[in-house]
Amino acid sequence: MKKTVDLIIGARPNFIKVVKLNRILRENFNVRLIHTGQHYTKEMSDIFFEDLSIPKPDYSFDVKSGTHAYQTYKIMVEYERLLLKRKPHLCVVFGDVNSTMAATIAAKKLYLKVAHVEAGLRSFDKSMPEEINRIVTDSLSDFLFAPSQDAVSNLLKEGREKRNIFLVGNIMIDTLKENLDKIRSIDICKEFSVKRKNFIYLTLHRPSNVDDRKRFIKILNFVKILSKEYPVILPLHPRTEKMINLFNLKKYISEKIYFIKPVSYLKSVALEMNSKFVLTDSGGIQEETTFLNVPCFTLRKNTERPVTLTEGTNTLLEPEVESIEKIFNTSERVKRNRIKYWDGKTSERISRILEELL
Ligand code: UD1
Ligand code: UDP
Repeated sequence: MKKTVDLIIGARPNFIKVVKLNRILRENFNVRLIHTGQHYTKEMSDIFFEDLSIPKPDYSFDVKSGTHAYQTYKIMVEYERLLLKRKPHLCVVFGDVNSTMAATIAAKKLYLKVAHVEAGLRSFDKSMPEEINRIVTDSLSDFLFAPSQDAVSNLLKEGREKRNIFLVGNIMIDTLKENLDKIRSIDICKEFSVKRKNFIYLTLHRPSNVDDRKRFIKILNFVKILSKEYPVILPLHPRTEKMINLFNLKKYISEKIYFIKPVSYLKSVALEMNSKFVLTDSGGIQEETTFLNVPCFTLRKNTERPVTLTEGTNTLLEPEVESIEKIFNTSERVKRNRIKYWDGKTSERISRILEELL
């Protein structure tokens, strides 16, 4: 009889990461695709299932938004309810969102095995909610699937046994590689009336950037200066939209800064690919731009993805006038080395390892 594997997804980056692994694992395992409902609006959830042909989840918890404790508790209770009816042989969690940590705790409290995809990333900044999720998830997980060598080193330094750590590469790149032809066929410049390599793609959603009014205004003023040189396309994450309304910042919308609804995955990558450069605080976009060899400036003081700085096209940036020169000096494309196992075959590696382990 086939062994049962639960795949836990809940937020935008999870949907993108699960695509190929869900498909491949179904060949040899009984997979239960479980959507916690952490993200639930059309633009943050449904659009990815359509765009990436992800099958309808086998279970949906529909937990929606709330404080961290509330959201974590709701997911734990819902997942525990399912686990008590039927236990899987393994629970697989992705990334660093609340759904990742909540499902891990619920599964481990019932003595189940957990595998973490994207294990070992560390920003070493506990004011970032995701860092807490990463530390808790990794410390409880049985099998640690690391995207890069720095992540393996972090886990070893934390005392994790070598035999439970697997360097498998970056699962985001699986989805990206698989969809490159489709992405290239999108005429994104026509859609937004911009010229290729002549606009900035901006995404913002980290609480440290948008929940703090002073910091958010500083970023918007910085973007306003940049927009004199190039138009800016900014799809608004719901958190960001909420804070713009709360802080009364709609005046920053202009002919040169387009505030739009969140875009689909294929369009987001098309925007990255065609932009002059990307300005972001997203984790996944730092990785995608490195793979695509597009200059990326990350509006953060640190990153849990240092390999994008050392081997990729990423630069950490403060939204200061002094940074503008740095942007224009470094925004010409630089060809970098390919990072080990960022080759579109991470899901296959994970699947093979799981077949041996289970
Ligand atoms: C979450 C993750 C973050 C990840 C991001 C990806 C945590 C702690 N944070 O942040 O790591 O980078 O997702 O996009 O897990 N909302 C909607 N519709 C939705 C979902 C949310 O309108 O479908 C609004 C709600 O007002 C909510 C707010 O967005 O309060 C924030 O959502 P939440 O899931 O708490 O965190 P994100 O900022 O989305
Ligand atoms: N993304 C998207 N639509 C958008 C903005 C981003 O599809 O409007 C994609 C982006 O290309 C990347 C992923 O969402 O694949 C990153 O997710 P996000 O920035 O929400 O979360 P993080 O990676 O920071 O956890």
